[in-house]
Amino acid sequence: MTRYRKQDPEITRRRFINAAMGTTATVGIVSLVGVLGTANPIFRLTRDKMPPVPGDILVHAEPSREGQLVKVSDLSEKLVRAWPQGKAEDGSPLIRKGDPNNVLCIFRFPKGQIVAPTVMEATIDSEIVAYSDICTHAGCSVANDDQNVGDMKCPCHSGQYDPKRGCKVIGGPPPRPLAQLPIKMDGDNLVVGDFFLEFPYPFLTEQEWQARITAVKSQLA
Ligand code: FES
Repeated sequence: MTRYRKQDPEITRRRFINAAMGTTATVGIVSLVGVLGTANPIFRLTRDKMPPVPGDILVHAEPSREGQLVKVSDLSEKLVRAWPQGKAEDGSPLIRKGDPNNVLCIFRFPKGQIVAPTVMEATIDSEIVAYSDICTHAGCSVANDDQNVGDMKCPCHSGQYDPKRGCKVIGGPPPRPLAQLPIKMDGDNLVVGDFFLEFPYPFLTEQEWQARITAVKSQLA
């Protein structure tokens, strides 16, 4: 992950998170989904519950299009929800929706609108960007902000995020940004370029998240 460089060398997102975590109280409300996610012992980490893995293909998550490949032409300033699709042990396609926290959101903005602290190297042509869609406050799925096109609003406690600026928190109680997921093109498909750049919900610390990455890598080796 160190190969991803911030646009602003003065303030890395990781420093931002570390500073924020140092001064932010632990979230008081933890959803049942979150509890289940963090409580999963490693030996139960089946492939359908693994977080997005490098090489996974992004497929639509909305019920009406679930499993269809996400195409660039599907994307706009309104979020598109997606699942990561990997491979089962027999090599067949497997959508990693065994963990509902794996749902993603993808945006496409006109060139020049995505700026720091977004990690630009983890976007596609500085136009397409992906994040965890799970609110860092208490685990709700974040939606479009209908009153501010291009922003996001959480329906649970009105948390607001700006996906053009690294999904930083611009309103409400979320303690940290939505985690950015590196993506890239593989032919016509959008694929995962690397693990989340910072710990996504329901992980509570960077150490916990790094342990999960290590477990995933070792199971897929
Ligand atoms: S879950 Fe509380 S603001 Fe999103």
